[in-house]
Amino acid sequence: MITFDCKNADSLVVGIENGLNLEQEFNNYADQIEAIISDLNKRKDKPGQKLQWMNLGYSEETAWYVKEYAAMVDGRFDDILVLGIGGSALGGIAVTNALLRPYWNLLSKEQRNGFPRIFFLDNIDPDTISSLLDILDLKKTLVNVITKSGDTVETMSQYMVVKDRMEKELGDDYRKNIIATTDMRTGILRQIAEQEGYKTFVVPDDVGGRYSVFSAVGLLPFALLGIDIDEITNGIKDMDLALKNTDIHKNIAAQSALIHYLMDVKLGKNITVMMPYSSRLQYVSDWFAQLWAESLGKSENNDGVHVHVGPTPVKALGVTDQHSQIQLYNEGPNNKLIDFIRVENFDSELQIPKIFEYTGIGYLGGKTMNDLMNAEAESTRVTLSDYSRPTLTFTLPKIDGYHVAQLLYMFEVQAAIAGALYNVNPFNQPGVEQSKNYIYALMGRAGYEESAKSLQLKMSSAV
Ligand code: PA5
Repeated sequence: MITFDCKNADSLVVGIENGLNLEQEFNNYADQIEAIISDLNKRKDKPGQKLQWMNLGYSEETAWYVKEYAAMVDGRFDDILVLGIGGSALGGIAVTNALLRPYWNLLSKEQRNGFPRIFFLDNIDPDTISSLLDILDLKKTLVNVITKSGDTVETMSQYMVVKDRMEKELGDDYRKNIIATTDMRTGILRQIAEQEGYKTFVVPDDVGGRYSVFSAVGLLPFALLGIDIDEITNGIKDMDLALKNTDIHKNIAAQSALIHYLMDVKLGKNITVMMPYSSRLQYVSDWFAQLWAESLGKSENNDGVHVHVGPTPVKALGVTDQHSQIQLYNEGPNNKLIDFIRVENFDSELQIPKIFEYTGIGYLGGKTMNDLMNAEAESTRVTLSDYSRPTLTFTLPKIDGYHVAQLLYMFEVQAAIAGALYNVNPFNQPGVEQSKNYIYALMGRAGYEESAKSLQLKMSSAV
């Protein structure tokens, strides 16, 4: 199991102005936490509660479907191209970067054990799209269009470009190279997929985009890349079991959610820095940033009161950002809680050779990069507490499907519990709707004419 160390967020370590009396706070909030966890588990099977993500680890059907499809197309494709954005892309990016051998796309097919390369297009930059389409052999590429709503402008515009290009190159056969992952019944992509006869996969009801990584949204690409799906679902199930414990003293998601919440509302530390000490986990920070920001950044609470709450997530990478952001974290405003993700055992052990012993770098010889990584993570953590900066540490015994799935699922539960503590709805995102409407208006979508007029006015009067 992954472990959690919160002692450097305690006032005994970082002082009462910057730390919490954790024992006291855990006791104070024990009943509320118990009620929150019981409530989540009571509501999770009810339609409309947006809690189906809590059941994804148990969906044998989804696991079976994705594995069956992966076996069916085994060896047919050199490349997988995922079109998607936000929750339809970030989980896939985070997990594939963590679990595939680093520099996967640069390895030979043999080194990849025959599995395809993977590309995620989660932006609409015309330069990167054009360049990628020039690189890919579309005849040997499987395009997976992922959008729960089925009409996200970025994803669907990418799809239109790619489909057109594929049809020109492949003729009618292009249909065999496109699959769609979308809502079971509704949305434009569902309609198109049925018309066109694409193979489809489902984003289940009551699973929001940022909580969808363990649905077919993530599991299908993982299976296509040879990632062990059972290892992932076992990790989720074991973590889910641990997080069903309503006792805050035994539930790391509850402890972490409460610490983040109190650091914000009591001590004004409303910035959450996510800092994995592993390049392979770098994109977990991107995934977490969306989960944290969209789930908790809300103008209204559940009682309709304007509250404008939500911690601001910041992405950092150990050790790289020690030479970039740590100066600010040590000496700048003390308004952050820094979350470290540590890895106990890396897959490789890399010796630093005993050379240049007569110089100032001689002391490094004979040590390993692993020793150095650990020494740097530890010294950064201690330095931060010397400066009275609170930190939390999550440790993975190693990077594999089992533990990465545990980590992500734990963060999802943490977001749900934090939502309850802030008394906001962590499963909606009303704040992104207005700019979507403006995009539709600017791009001439029917029904948005009034919006277009008011937008033109605002744009012309903007200084
Ligand atoms: O978390 C969310 O719900 C969003 O970030 C969505 O995932 C994102 O907007 C993409 O939506 P869709 O999957 O409908 O294309």
